[in-house]
Amino acid sequence: MCGIVGYVGSKPGMDVVLEGLRRLEYRGYDSAGVAVLSDAGELQVERRAGKLANLEKVVVGTPLPGTLAIGHTRWATHGAPTDRNAHPHVDCAGRVAVVHNGTIENFEELVAGLEQRGHERRSETDTEVVAHLLEERYDGDLAEAVRSVCRDLEGSFVLVVAHADRPDVVVGARRNLPLVIGLGEGENFLGSDVTAFIGHTREARIVDQDQVVELRRDGVTVTTLDGTVVDGASFHVDWDTDAAEKGGHEFFMLKEIQEQPAAIRETLGGRLQEDGLLHLDELSMSDEDIRGIEQVVIIACGSSYHSGLVGKYAIERWCRLPVQVEMASEFRYRDPVVGRNTLVIAVSQSGETADTLEAVRHARSQKAWVLAVTNTVGSTISRESDAAFYTRGGPEVAVASTKAVITQIVAMYVVGLYLAQVRGTRDADEVRAHLADLREIPDLVQEVLDRMDGVRELARDLVNEPRVLFLGRHVGYPMALEGALKLKELAYISAEGFPAGEIKHGPIALIEKGTPVVVLAARHALSAKLVNNVQEVRARGARTIVIATDGDDSVTPYADEIIRIPDTKSLLTPLLTIVPMQVLSAEVARAKGLDVDQPRNLAKSVTVE
Ligand code: G6P
Repeated sequence: MCGIVGYVGSKPGMDVVLEGLRRLEYRGYDSAGVAVLSDAGELQVERRAGKLANLEKVVVGTPLPGTLAIGHTRWATHGAPTDRNAHPHVDCAGRVAVVHNGTIENFEELVAGLEQRGHERRSETDTEVVAHLLEERYDGDLAEAVRSVCRDLEGSFVLVVAHADRPDVVVGARRNLPLVIGLGEGENFLGSDVTAFIGHTREARIVDQDQVVELRRDGVTVTTLDGTVVDGASFHVDWDTDAAEKGGHEFFMLKEIQEQPAAIRETLGGRLQEDGLLHLDELSMSDEDIRGIEQVVIIACGSSYHSGLVGKYAIERWCRLPVQVEMASEFRYRDPVVGRNTLVIAVSQSGETADTLEAVRHARSQKAWVLAVTNTVGSTISRESDAAFYTRGGPEVAVASTKAVITQIVAMYVVGLYLAQVRGTRDADEVRAHLADLREIPDLVQEVLDRMDGVRELARDLVNEPRVLFLGRHVGYPMALEGALKLKELAYISAEGFPAGEIKHGPIALIEKGTPVVVLAARHALSAKLVNNVQEVRARGARTIVIATDGDDSVTPYADEIIRIPDTKSLLTPLLTIVPMQVLSAEVARAKGLDVDQPRNLAKSVTVE
């Protein structure tokens, strides 16, 4: 969380940085700020509480001159989201400007020392200490001053720094959080991710743990904290600016929902062999190791956790392995039983979620084999895991995850089938048949998308509801959780998902006359029991909104509203039921006049524990 941009080149620095911040705003939108350095060494800072638009109103009429700039969009941790706490922060003399993502854990101790030495603190942030420490330590070499300060910092950070004396240099540093260099011609960039500079260059290089980068117009130098220069490979970003633009849609989320069929095709692409079976080199496990797996533990947060839950149903069924799914924030504090024969699957769209990263580290310390399932090439979780399966969903900008989740679910099926193939728990013909079903899914998702008019209408009808319940059984249960999460995060409606069989043990008490209950009744083995559950809630006055498979009329008599989806194998139904729930929540939010892409209090990439 928090988005960071740095630029040095020949273009107006403020424009480049604001463009980057627009693309990074999904990382936090409590405040935004820029610092621009002119060739004459004049450092100007503007920052405003609230979304980037508030800052833009101030600076667009009166651009700050200079071809070197840094910028920040904030998700508040230390200090309220006010103008005063907005980044960049400066030292006493106003000559050093710093933007920061992360948490400096020893900042109170550092503040005490700085105050004793006469520095005046102007914000409640942990970040400001860095500006004052740089003021003390800078003696002409900005990169060395940053290295020296970083050696004294505890916690996690990405720092990007400009100094009035150095109109030729931007310095960045990272520990635990992401920082990427964009390599241009006569200009170079820093960003929390590649979207920050994708409009200018598609050549990028990752800054590694505890490294410091000096960014100049004619090149970059990366060092360790002790000043040793390190080489590193660059990579080419294989998508362009269009992928990070709204493409005619009012919100990114609406565009990303529509992109799901293509995203699923990308996830499946290249992973099937000519004989119709799977080929997953990326697992980096020998067949013998795969046969030696004794349990699978899936760790994730938020919507990714729901993808993991679907993975449990698939892997248990196909591989006959015990599977646990854990919220990453709980996992490592529980002394979990994992070891050499445990496959841990860490599911994370961003590959940067702090809770998931810490869980990965814990699992590896226990000698488990960790596979990252992530959308982000080169992310911290992918690099710290033993292997990475990239979901290839393309950039996802809306805070609420859609195409990333659907591709994670596909990844769960693919990994599950591969394990089954190697372990021999499913024969080759059966694996081929499941893969053939999966290959049909993009077309079926498109069919669902083409039928969404009724859902949009229904959404307008739900805007004033205080509460909506979601019920599902089997693989419908994780999707009930996902439907509820989407509605609460986007439309601020109190929503809960339950296993349909469980409601009689308590949640049914929530039902009053007219309470909307969304029932995920896609065809599966338990649909007869689900029909009973629908009757139970309806008998108590619920307004039932049922997602049902084409041609299945068992539930029709008890449905006040029906949303139809095409038929597929029962285990794969989450890939279809998820779509109407995404559309429903986005449309309710839109009808309420809310910001669909940037719901209040949230951030897409949560890099604090
Ligand atoms: C945040 C986002 C969610 C996301 C979760 C996990 O809470 O708002 O949409 O599911 O983080 O993110 P990850 O990048 O690890 O999948």
